[in-house]
Amino acid sequence: MADTTNPQFPPLEKPPYHVGIIMDGNGRWAKMHGKHRIEGHKAGTENLRRILESSVEFGVKMLTIYAFSTENWKRPPFEVMGLMKILEDVIDRELAELNKNGVQLRHIGILEKLRPSIRKKVLHAIDMTKGNDRLVLNVAFNYGGRQEIVDAVKCVIDEGIPAGQITEELLSQHMYTANCPDPDLIIRTSGEFRTSNFLIWQAAYAEYYITPTYWPDFDKAEYYKALQTFSQRDRRYGGRNE
Ligand code: FPP
Repeated sequence: MADTTNPQFPPLEKPPYHVGIIMDGNGRWAKMHGKHRIEGHKAGTENLRRILESSVEFGVKMLTIYAFSTENWKRPPFEVMGLMKILEDVIDRELAELNKNGVQLRHIGILEKLRPSIRKKVLHAIDMTKGNDRLVLNVAFNYGGRQEIVDAVKCVIDEGIPAGQITEELLSQHMYTANCPDPDLIIRTSGEFRTSNFLIWQAAYAEYYITPTYWPDFDKAEYYKALQTFSQRDRRYGGRNE
């Protein structure tokens, strides 16, 4: 049988199962190219396609992307509306293809604050792709890690669970990411060293990879480098590997 291995990207020994990405730097990328910020977000959306394809090729099974945070409402209305429209357009344009390629779409965050037409499309996309298992794509949209913890605590109280029964596992099961394994690797582009409220509960033992590259320029080769770096990390979870 022919060897289909790409010599530039040999199979990784230990690819991360779950990768989270803080797709930062769209605005600076746009400025650098003399374009409007929205064009930066559009270029960032285009980049998602190659990162999704590469995820499947490199053996990543779950990807969580930070597309709109609970703090992003503070941006000018034009930019907020632009990001909402991008989400809607992506679903309209890419859903059939994503479904054909075995991608399961999920959403984390608060849907209620989004326009009903977007909510409907997101729920439809989730329902249509729920049987797919090649790659799970969690879209964090109107997501905030602190809000997620507050919501989990409210849920636990509403369910009447006594304090003595509250464990880390129980709280994990009340997060938006219930049933998802914790992220192994968090990638942040554009050189900022912050978590920005992204998966703050789940990333307790995640490895971080930070690159100065702006998100629209974060390509397959750099993604591979991030995964390769992860493979070489010694994860001890507070213990010792002797
Ligand atoms: C941060 O860059 C990026 C965002 C706030 C939005 C990221 C969104 C996308 C890439 C597209 C959305 C995709 C889907 C599927 C809806 P920034 O604007 O803070 O950049 P800057 O720090 O350089 O100004």
